[in-house]
Amino acid sequence: MPQVKVSLGERSYHIHIEPGLMGRAGEVVRSLGLNQRVVVITNPKVGGLYLSPLKEGLEKAGLTVESIEVPDGEEYKNLEVTRSLYNELLSCRLDRRTPVIALGGGVIGDLSGFVAATFMRGLPFIQVPTSLLAQIDSSVGGKVGVNLPQAKNMVGSFYQPSVVIIDPLALKTLDERELMAGLAEIVKYGVIRDEAFFAWLENNWAGILDLEPEALSHIIARSCQIKADVVSLDEREAGERAILNYGHTIGHALESLTDYKCFRHGEAVAIGMIAASWIANELGLLSESEVRRQIDILQRIGLPTTFSGIDSQEIIKTLALDKKVLGGEVRFILPAQIGRVIIKSAISTEVIKKAIEKVCRHRDFQRSPIEP
Ligand code: NAD
Ligand code: GLY
Repeated sequence: MPQVKVSLGERSYHIHIEPGLMGRAGEVVRSLGLNQRVVVITNPKVGGLYLSPLKEGLEKAGLTVESIEVPDGEEYKNLEVTRSLYNELLSCRLDRRTPVIALGGGVIGDLSGFVAATFMRGLPFIQVPTSLLAQIDSSVGGKVGVNLPQAKNMVGSFYQPSVVIIDPLALKTLDERELMAGLAEIVKYGVIRDEAFFAWLENNWAGILDLEPEALSHIIARSCQIKADVVSLDEREAGERAILNYGHTIGHALESLTDYKCFRHGEAVAIGMIAASWIANELGLLSESEVRRQIDILQRIGLPTTFSGIDSQEIIKTLALDKKVLGGEVRFILPAQIGRVIIKSAISTEVIKKAIEKVCRHRDFQRSPIEP
């Protein structure tokens, strides 16, 4: 089975990727030599689909399984639900070697990881990610946390899992829009680190959209490897890890200006990557044909590369506000070619505005509806 190692000294761990692995997760968990009792945290949607096969496999390996459900949705990734999980864990009478298993998308992974990091000063944590975004991004690298009403992911920690167990077949039940949003981050990996992978995506996107298990296993393994390499170099985002935020600067402004109600995160990132590429092109770093290659692959996948209904001035204002709140510079991750990016701040407003206008479909901001 494909395995990727995240090399972080004594916090190193493996990512196992194999179609059908959900039902055989017991063998992997057992091999960690932790407590025989495990606690699975999931939501009703994912739990309804995958808790039974996961539980059966864990029990077959001799483990005893408790499970806890939290409601489905980003709005439940908060401190109230964290507290309710602490209460549930208290009533389970755990010891400090009892693993917490997150079964779900990025919301369940971030929330369960935060609970595992903090309950009894840390329980072993296992990720069983089921959305594409979680399988190629959020389950790897140890960022865990919850939202505050004022801002997303404001409370959290770096807490690496003991293992990540990925079954690409779980993606068969994922909404198409969620799948496409995850694919944006996969295109991102090609642009930031691997031109050959980007070219492979250009030639194989149809098989991915058809959910061919081999194609899915390949894109998940390569994406996890790239993220693992970056995280191994810079676990706490002192420098290099920031390249994972390619497309996120303007993407985040689009999400926040639309109250997180209009774009899936990956959709905003897709537009943000093209805006960043136009900035790079404007600065003479990237050729127009390399921008167009990215537009082409994103459009083939079905992702937006432009938006309408938001004034470019509003985006500039939001970037300035982010800068004030974060107390630093607005940093852009800019491609110098497909496969290599640089981190750059102090870019003139004029250049940013020109690039934003290239990804903005209409000038009639008042009347055009917010899309996609
Ligand atoms: P999500 O967890 O809300 O999942 C999207 C939807 O798909 C949910 O309704 C979920 O229940 C459902 N779902 C998941 N797997 C399914 C499956 N196999 N079949 C059917 N339905 C399924 O959203 P997401 O996009 O997975 O994750 C977004 C979250 O991840 C955000 O909170 C974001 O902040 C976080 N995130 C964290 C990191 C990190 O490094 N920790 C990185 C990126 C994003
Ligand atoms: N998703 C960005 C990171 O993990 O650093």
